[in-house]
Amino acid sequence: MKLCKVTFLPETRSVSVHTGSTLLKAASMAGVHINASCGGAGTCGKCRAVVQGDNFRTEPSIHLTPSEMKKGYVLSCLTVVQGDLTVEIPREAQKGVGVRIDTGRRPGGELLKIGDRKIRPRTKKLHLKITPPTLNDNISDLDRLFRELKKAGYKDLDITCGLPVLQKLGRTLRESHWDVTVTLFWNRCEIEIMDIEPGDVTLSRYGLAVDVGTTTVVAYLVHLNTGKIVDVESDLNAQIRCGEDVISRIVYATEIGTVEEVHNLVIETINGLVEKLAAKNGILPESIDSVVSAGNTTMTHLLYGIDPRYIREEPYIPTVNLFPVIKAREIGIRVNQNASIYSVPGTASYVGGDISAGILASGVYKSDALTIFIDIGTNGEIVLGNKDWMVAASCSAGPAFEGGGVKFGMRASRGAIEGVRIDRKTLEPTCHVIGDAEPQGICGSGMIDALAEMYLAGVINQKGKFVQGLKTDRIREGETGLEYVMVRRDEDKGEPDIVLASADIDNIIRTKGAIYAGFKTLINEMNLTFQDVERFVIAGGFGNYIEIEKAIIIGLLPDLPEERFHFIGNSSIIGSYLVLLSKELRLEAEEIARKMTYIELSVSHSFMDEYMSALFLPHTNMDDFPSVKEIIRKRKISG
Ligand code: FES
Repeated sequence: MKLCKVTFLPETRSVSVHTGSTLLKAASMAGVHINASCGGAGTCGKCRAVVQGDNFRTEPSIHLTPSEMKKGYVLSCLTVVQGDLTVEIPREAQKGVGVRIDTGRRPGGELLKIGDRKIRPRTKKLHLKITPPTLNDNISDLDRLFRELKKAGYKDLDITCGLPVLQKLGRTLRESHWDVTVTLFWNRCEIEIMDIEPGDVTLSRYGLAVDVGTTTVVAYLVHLNTGKIVDVESDLNAQIRCGEDVISRIVYATEIGTVEEVHNLVIETINGLVEKLAAKNGILPESIDSVVSAGNTTMTHLLYGIDPRYIREEPYIPTVNLFPVIKAREIGIRVNQNASIYSVPGTASYVGGDISAGILASGVYKSDALTIFIDIGTNGEIVLGNKDWMVAASCSAGPAFEGGGVKFGMRASRGAIEGVRIDRKTLEPTCHVIGDAEPQGICGSGMIDALAEMYLAGVINQKGKFVQGLKTDRIREGETGLEYVMVRRDEDKGEPDIVLASADIDNIIRTKGAIYAGFKTLINEMNLTFQDVERFVIAGGFGNYIEIEKAIIIGLLPDLPEERFHFIGNSSIIGSYLVLLSKELRLEAEEIARKMTYIELSVSHSFMDEYMSALFLPHTNMDDFPSVKEIIRKRKISG
């Protein structure tokens, strides 16, 4: 095997790889991001690249048209390097710059506060002036420190001290003239001396709350004395180059790459956020002495570097739900190396710590009101219950609402169509694009809007199939069947029209059908009806942008009065923040994780039946959607 030079444009980054490497692998080695929703399985069509020259071998794909292939378009994961190459990454395959990330900021720029909770973080800084040793008082430095802590009131707890602190203890005590600040960490019934620093540094006390999302990672820098959120940063999870959903991520970690590689990518993302937060706020990363994270079970396994393969193998058992508290140095997070890392515990393989954090943040677990909580992402995790009981499930909705499996699907970022109206007479669309930019594709909220509008305008029928014989040139035969042209562009400039094709519509209907079937299965399991549900809490960044009426029209959400729906945004980061600040809330989060009863939908016959009934607009049973029935009746009268 010889070494070849591959140069990626537009960044002009080069890398040497052996012949036989895929372009996707070469890009990863060069640190060049290429969208790879399926993690290199060749099924999503997102890893497009334009190759110059002949030094490659590739496979055809249904995701590329003959004219695109003539222009040099290939799928990076199906293309093998055979010599020196120059490769252009088209805009649509580049990293989602400016992806709209819900950081938990409320309207007006305010960040959520801890409310009436007492701020009692698990770490504390204590300033001590210690009596120096003499020939008569000659106990060891560590015993002297223990004695001082007991004098300060820490009598009834076991106190421990790790090796890194011991290694610097003698020098720090003497160089500071016995005037030090110790950082104490409460780990259930014992206290650990986590760090020792010269002088009084009790005011320099920071913590980090992190939402480790499959797509994005959000971090709050928090002042632990006041509970104030000093700043917030977010970025795409660098693991995204290994696949967009958790299953592709597991496949990549266990079959294509390594667990270590995927683990390192998320650590790299978190370290990037720490660096930015520290630099912007003039603090040292070492002054962050406590980290709380929340993520789904796969993300948390990968954060800890734990092999996640059993999560996707029946009977779907994770290695751990309640993760042990570890030190930052153990996984390479660049804050204080002795800082504790705690992850909000999960309930099962597909109901993780992000959902426990969401239930904590939304207060479902202490409310009398019967509530449905849903976090819509690549998976739809659902919790039904109240303060007395909670059942949870996860429906593998698929990544359609995040842009996967839809030809012009993209995440909610600049250039994404997020809203659509279709004139009922002319069938002409009006699109609202994020950032008022040139449209590049369509994001989840745009898909919901488009489907609802196409249905109400009579472009598609209840099965989601195109209605024949309509007088409009917006419907045409495309390469994969009939399609609706949402935006006309200049094909000669390599910019094909943005369309929603039959296959895309089928995918969106499957996604919404899985989510609705998840709600219905839990409701049936508990012998309830949707009318019994008093509160419907929608979490997740995407949820914020859903138009409730449109989501009901396509049958994604049940037909309930609009006032019962509440948006909570990124509840995973809010829950992590609460746990960071309060030992009591940490225990409550653990209680939530234990209390939720998990129902595995993938083996439920009732779920499959509900799913089949939900593959219509809005549903086979229109009586469950009286408001949509009424809209359709009025449309027929007026039409
Ligand atoms: Fe190449 Fe999905 S088709 S990464």
